Amino acid sequence: MEGIDFPSMHSRPEMFEFEGIPMVHYFTDNWENIQNFKARPDDILIATYPKAGTTWVSYMLDLLYFGNTAPERQTSLPIYMRVPFLESAFPVIPTGVELADNLPTTPRLIKTHLPVQLVPKSFWEQNCRVVYIARNAKDNAVSYFHFDRMNYVQPEPGDWSTFLKNYMDGKNVFGPWYDHVCGYWEKKNAYSNIHYMFFEDMVEDTGREVERLCSFLGLSTPSEEKERITKSVHFDSMKQNNMTNYSSLPVMDFKISPFMRKGKVGDWRNHFTVAQNEQFDEHYKEKMKNTTLQFRTEV
Ligand code: A3P
Repeated sequence: MEGIDFPSMHSRPEMFEFEGIPMVHYFTDNWENIQNFKARPDDILIATYPKAGTTWVSYMLDLLYFGNTAPERQTSLPIYMRVPFLESAFPVIPTGVELADNLPTTPRLIKTHLPVQLVPKSFWEQNCRVVYIARNAKDNAVSYFHFDRMNYVQPEPGDWSTFLKNYMDGKNVFGPWYDHVCGYWEKKNAYSNIHYMFFEDMVEDTGREVERLCSFLGLSTPSEEKERITKSVHFDSMKQNNMTNYSSLPVMDFKISPFMRKGKVGDWRNHFTVAQNEQFDEHYKEKMKNTTLQFRTEV
């Protein structure tokens, strides 16, 4: 992949309203094929709002299922090829649908950032397992801001205060954080095959979260193996690992900000001013007043 020049490397895409949420064309160009995607009953959908720990959990799952049986995958295929990003249509690699259709593995691990109402219906019809990861709104905002700065398939974020205002107004690709995390939370009431995870829990005790994933998935992975996986998915190892750190995808400029940036809970304190924090808290209370969903902004 290295050396391939991304055609519109220096022109950012426009954001537009699509099916009720802000989007860029990279995630809508292949819409018909996305909506008609044929899920299989053993597919596992990894769903997140962007920057909630998608890559972290993708790698955990990939190691749990294929770490031993297909070790060459770990050294030769970047994570975004092993776990296709369903709605993506980037010029440099096949579409997410093509990659998923051609995955040789069982189960297939598939990633999406679509809000719950836009997930292709075959996933629900096939009763697929869904692993959802949520991250507290403040750290999620900070991470998304830095991601938009360095990622040419995303619109320009502007400065931090502009970005934060847009974020509170839900003007981000994939829509409002609030609706996304609450949408999947509510979905659990009607659809029990969702494992709802929190980024903060993974930072607090990664091993425990690997354990919980195994029990949701019905895996009886030996404990030494789980310990090995917990070490392999540590921030420092993933940052060093060219197959998990996105260094081979030529749409990101690591000179601006690396993909594996900090991996912390509470970095929002280094970005929010006192006034921004007060406004955010007030707005948050209003937006989240009807849900039982709770987040931690510290661990
Ligand atoms: P930061 O920008 O706060 O560092 P996604 O994969 O959904 O795009 O999420 C990316 C965020 O998850 C980034 O957050 C990244 O550093 C963090 N992350 C990825 N792997 C991690 C790991 N093993 N441990 C902690 N954080 C991780």
